[in-house]
Parts: sequence; C-alpha cells; structure tokens
Amino acid sequence: MTNNILVIGAAGQIGTELVLALRKAYGNDKIIATDLKDAPKDELAEGPYEQLDVLDKDKLFEVVKKYNVSEIYLLAALLSATAEKNPALGWELNMNGLSNVLDLSKEGLIKRIFWPSSIAVFGPNTPKDMTPQRTIMEPTTVYGITKVAGESWCEYYANKYKVDVRSIRYPGIIGYKSAPGGGTTDYAVHIFHEAIKNGEYACFLSEDAELPMMYMPDAVKATLELMDAPAANIKLRTSYNITGFSFTPDVLADAIRKHIPQFKMSYEPDYRDGIAKSWPSSLDDRMAREQWGWKPEFTIEKMVEDMLFHLREVVV
Ligand code: SER
Repeated sequence: MTNNILVIGAAGQIGTELVLALRKAYGNDKIIATDLKDAPKDELAEGPYEQLDVLDKDKLFEVVKKYNVSEIYLLAALLSATAEKNPALGWELNMNGLSNVLDLSKEGLIKRIFWPSSIAVFGPNTPKDMTPQRTIMEPTTVYGITKVAGESWCEYYANKYKVDVRSIRYPGIIGYKSAPGGGTTDYAVHIFHEAIKNGEYACFLSEDAELPMMYMPDAVKATLELMDAPAANIKLRTSYNITGFSFTPDVLADAIRKHIPQFKMSYEPDYRDGIAKSWPSSLDDRMAREQWGWKPEFTIEKMVEDMLFHLREVVV
C-alpha cells in the first residue's frame, strides 16, 4: 500500500465532506478517516476509520505506519468561539497538533501536508476591505493567534526541512451535510436550518457584521486543487487568502426571503459579534488565483438556492 492519505478531524464540518471527496477521487481504501470519536459516522464508515487524538503522538505514528500514510490533512482544531471558552486547550490542540504532524514529515514519513488557516489571522488593525494577502494581522482571539503562529510554523518547516506543506485561509464555510463546530461564522449555517424548521432565526451577530464566506463545494474544490498543484506553483508556504463572496447577516436573510418570504430575522449579538467585527469584510485572493488557478463557482444566490434545496430534504 502506498500513497495513503490520513484525514485528522474527519468528523468535523470540513472533514466530513473532504473525506467523501478524497474517497471519490482516489478510492475508499486510500483515505484513512480519523477523529476523536470511537465509531465513524455513517458516511465515514465506507472506508478505513481509526479513533485518533492528534495530541497522542505515539498513536498518530502507529496509524501512519499501519496504513503507510504519505499525506496528511490536519483538520482537528478548536474554532474561534469554542477556543475563547478554553484558551489553554485551544492553544494546546491547535499548536501541538500541528507540531506533531509537521514532525512526522521532518522524519521523512510524510511527503505532503494540508493544514487550514483562517480569516481569523486578521484583527482590528487589519484593512477591512479587500484585505491583502500580506498586511497587518494582530489577531485578538486565541484561535487567530494559533493560526498566525501555525502559518509561520508551516513556513519554517517548509524552508528548513523542505516539507511540502500547503495551506489556505478559509473564510466562513457554509454546507448542508455537516454541522459547523464552534465558529463565529456558524450562524450562516444555523440560519438555514431554522428558516426551514421555524421560519425565524435569532442571529448572534449584528445585522451589519460583514464577513467573507464560501460554499462547501468551493472549499473542497480549493483544497483539492491546492493539493494537486505542482509544488513549484506554491510559492507561498504560510497560507493563501481565498474567498467566495461576502455578506452581512441582513443580506443573507434577504437572500433567504427570496425563497421563504415570511422568514423573520432578529438580532441578539453576543461575544461572537466582537470577534466578527475584528475580522475582514472581504479578501483579496489574487495570489491564489494567479499561482494555482483558484476560482470559486458559487455566488451567494446559487449557494442559498442549493442549501435550501438539499436541506429541505432532511430538515423536518
Ligand atoms: N469559521 C471559523 C470560525 O468562525 C473561521 O475560520 O471560527
């Protein structure tokens, strides 16, 4: 067995869909799904699955050896809102998890790594509109701090140990197959479930909190395209800005009302609104477009239509 791919955090919002896409592209047996949970969720059970805590370095090594893994997608992390509740765990999981994976490649076991960064690397002093690839960062959340440090850690390993590590700064990700796990942008998923179930939603961000977002199929496409690109094209070893579209909760509510006219939105901003307000409104992702051909397919209108279509089948 060669060229097997390990996905860590496979039961999470992005992991669930990425495993399905990778299995479709490379075959079920080649993709080893791992997560903290003992048993895999339905879809994940269609190929190899192992219970794994990325902080358990010995078990990580064991799984890598057992399956002849040569590539890792590291998706296990505490997101922005959850990490604010437990900063020490946020730091430990996000930083030590990354170090454990990078160290495997230093030892020559792993040839390629995907690690996601986030719009959370930016902070209140960052230019808000069309935020450049390189600019002031100064994040205020522990999650953002681990992402800035992680970006530099990846670049350091790429330069010093020639590790082929690749990364994108995901904006808020919206999908219908899997639930988001403790982020500031989660409202943009919950809103669809509530609109279908109850016709109303109380948003935890304020109506004008504009953030860069992306539909899940584009996030999966970006990830696979980045990992498929020739190594010479990946000139940036920190992390690439990428975006699909930007909207405020108010604009998203209006877009939903085109399909559910009676939909009611109210606002109960909490601490997550402060986090959202410290992040960019829109991103300049030209470097990703130029270096490895990034181009999103979904507009906000197409995303809303597709989300409602798929969720109406499952939400009752
Ligand atoms: N969606 C993430 C969050 O809100 C940002 O990377 O935490």
